[in-house]
Amino acid sequence: MRNLTVLASAFALVLACPLVNAQTPAAKSADTAAASAANGKRAFTSVGCVACHGAQGQGTAMGIQIAPPPFELPALITYVRQPTGKMPPFAPGAVSDQQLADIYAFLKSVAPPPSASETLTGNADNGKKLFAAYGCYECHGRQGAGASTGPRIGPPAITLAAVLRYVRAPTGQMPPYTTKVVSDQDLADIYTYLKSLPPPPPASSIPLLNQ
Ligand code: HEC
Ligand code: HEC
Repeated sequence: MRNLTVLASAFALVLACPLVNAQTPAAKSADTAAASAANGKRAFTSVGCVACHGAQGQGTAMGIQIAPPPFELPALITYVRQPTGKMPPFAPGAVSDQQLADIYAFLKSVAPPPSASETLTGNADNGKKLFAAYGCYECHGRQGAGASTGPRIGPPAITLAAVLRYVRAPTGQMPPYTTKVVSDQDLADIYTYLKSLPPPPPASSIPLLNQ
């Protein structure tokens, strides 16, 4: 949306200049109405994007996922006019800039597919067993309270999504665990177990720090 505003103000400047013919393509696009996700949804189907990109832009065997779009509107327009891969080009006669702005608004309105961390529910009892079975305790301590070989991770200060990311690709001393070794469900169970653990004692209750 911010993009459109920027574009609109750029065009407003162009229009304000008397040397520019009001019928240039740029000036014409300035007349385009605000993008509408509802119109975009219809255009996405009627123009035929849907055949390859799927009803929600989620992708099919013939086209990649494009919703929610990681690119900006100008990039979409450029790509649709001059694709560089297998996608056929669409001229302005087939799909107008206005329709593409609407399609972009529609793609933006599509919620991202739920990630594993949002759909998983963990089981603390099972997590406790797995924490031992996978040897996490060897470095993180029996109750996740930390050891000389690893930091305290119970209760975790980070989200399940962050734990999933870290365990798959640690950046420090910790060895990585692939999904083949420890599944996302296993990690959700471990996370739920760690969440159930008591927080560390406040610093004031540690005698050494009070001396
Ligand atoms: C015949 C199948 C087909 C149709 C129809 C089609 N696309 Fe594509 N599209 C693809 C494929 C395949 C790609 C992956 C890159 C490539 O091979 O061109 C792609 C890539 C894209 C990209 C680039 C995404 C990126 O992240 O780089 C955009 C944007 C896009 N399509 C939008 C559209 C829109 C909007 C329409 C309708 C006007 C449309 N496509 C119609 C097959 C299609
Ligand atoms: C060989 C020792 C070792 C083992 C085994 C181990 N870790 Fe770690 N872990 C570490 C260390 C050390 C760190 C601190 C960052 C680093 O150096 O990678 C860490 C960091 C983490 C973090 C990030 C903490 C944060 O707040 O950023 C998580 C989450 C974690 N470990 C979970 C696990 C789980 C779950 C297991 C079992 C599947 C496990 N670890 C097994 C040593 C280990």
